Amino acid sequence: MTKYVIRGGKPLYGDVEISGAKNAAVAIIPAALLVDGVCRIENVPQISDVTLLLKILQELGADIRTVDRTTVDIDCTHIRNAKVPDGMARQIRASYYLIGALLGRFGESLVPPPGGCHLGTRPIDQHIKGFVAMGADVDVRGGYIHATARNGRLQGGQVYLDIVSVGATMNIMLAAALAQGMTIIENAAKEPHIVDLANFLNSMGAQIMGAGTDVIKIRGVDRLRGGTYSIIPDQIEAGTYMAAVAAAGGRVRLKNVIPKHMDCISAKLVEMGVEIEEGDDEIVVSRAPEKRLTRTNIKTLPYPGFPTDMQPQIAVALCLAEGTSVVTEGVWDSRYRYVDEIRRLGAEIQVDGKIAVIEGVDRLTGAPVQACDLRAGAAMVIAGLAAQGVTEVDQVQYIERGYEDIVRKLSGIGADIRVVVTPDEEKAQASAG
Ligand code: EPU
Repeated sequence: MTKYVIRGGKPLYGDVEISGAKNAAVAIIPAALLVDGVCRIENVPQISDVTLLLKILQELGADIRTVDRTTVDIDCTHIRNAKVPDGMARQIRASYYLIGALLGRFGESLVPPPGGCHLGTRPIDQHIKGFVAMGADVDVRGGYIHATARNGRLQGGQVYLDIVSVGATMNIMLAAALAQGMTIIENAAKEPHIVDLANFLNSMGAQIMGAGTDVIKIRGVDRLRGGTYSIIPDQIEAGTYMAAVAAAGGRVRLKNVIPKHMDCISAKLVEMGVEIEEGDDEIVVSRAPEKRLTRTNIKTLPYPGFPTDMQPQIAVALCLAEGTSVVTEGVWDSRYRYVDEIRRLGAEIQVDGKIAVIEGVDRLTGAPVQACDLRAGAAMVIAGLAAQGVTEVDQVQYIERGYEDIVRKLSGIGADIRVVVTPDEEKAQASAG
């Protein structure tokens, strides 16, 4: 297995370039299925979830050309197949966007149930409610989610989401872009990546209004044409580096960010005593190493609330704050699986259901830990950077699903972090190569 070995206790100084947003990219890439012609997508993050989605599109028959490290041309014009092969699609949560995109394009889709990180039950009933409101029948057949438009093409419909869901909002937008008539999503999610998907689709000719508010209206069009689009910077990647500086101390400039998207995270860090300076497309985050963080309480909520995808990372910083902090997880049933791991470093956290009570300690001490999901993995890395001594983070494939070049980026700001591949994996890589 591959591990990260971190010698911690060193403040971080320097610049980090933030990559394109994972949760925008994983919707925009399937959205290319709706487009007649070539979509040039820029600022694509180099992460394994993106690689997997591109491979799935390729298996479906898309023509994919890498233009440069972060730019890809996708042409789905010649795809005739609405059935996604099993296997790869199961490894990734965002494969559910293939349901909306294929259903919108072909009036039919056959997609294996989505995979992804274990964060408690992850139903897709709200996605299905949206498709049904647009005249689709959805059932599970032979291990596949099978959706068909009763009249061959989806009809605009009205859907009120019972729960504010990012995935359902984006999936219904995808399905509705080429539907006949107007679709209205009420109680829609408002995350920056929702706006980004709407902007992508609109730039290809869709008519989507209200993205970023809780009512989104989509007037279906007959055709989307090719074009060029650049994905927004990753709010959570940027927030993760901010939390790293909060925990380890130092001063780091984050380049290629949208400061407005960071407000929900910056506000909490400021309460904790971290200094934040905003520029047009950069943020400088600093904490003097000798100054301790201040305790705070946090509740995760849909945007513009504090993001659940930052909960483990900020909790690690709070482990080193002076006083008692209370963290409430307001989105997922189970997002505290990392707590047992972080306790190995000397953190004092008690969890009761959706609430974690953190007693700040003076120091964490390095230990072997495991990344149990993507953000938990990022939290382990942050803990390792802040802890005295050596931390070994195992199961880093979770981290690489969503963080481009994390080892290089952290090394660039002075972290002592190395990738260690165990002999078994070296052998496997040699035979694969
Ligand atoms: N929910 C339902 N029914 C549905 C859909 C969601 O009950 O049909 C519930 C979920 O169980 C959860 C809540 O609604 O309790 C919110 O789920 P949402 O649909 O918003 O989450 P998602 O679309 O599955 C995306 C991100 C997650 C991120 C959440 C919340 C992607 C691929 N994933 O998931 O990202 O935590 O939104 O912001 O975009 C991550 O990046 O680490 C990650 C887990």
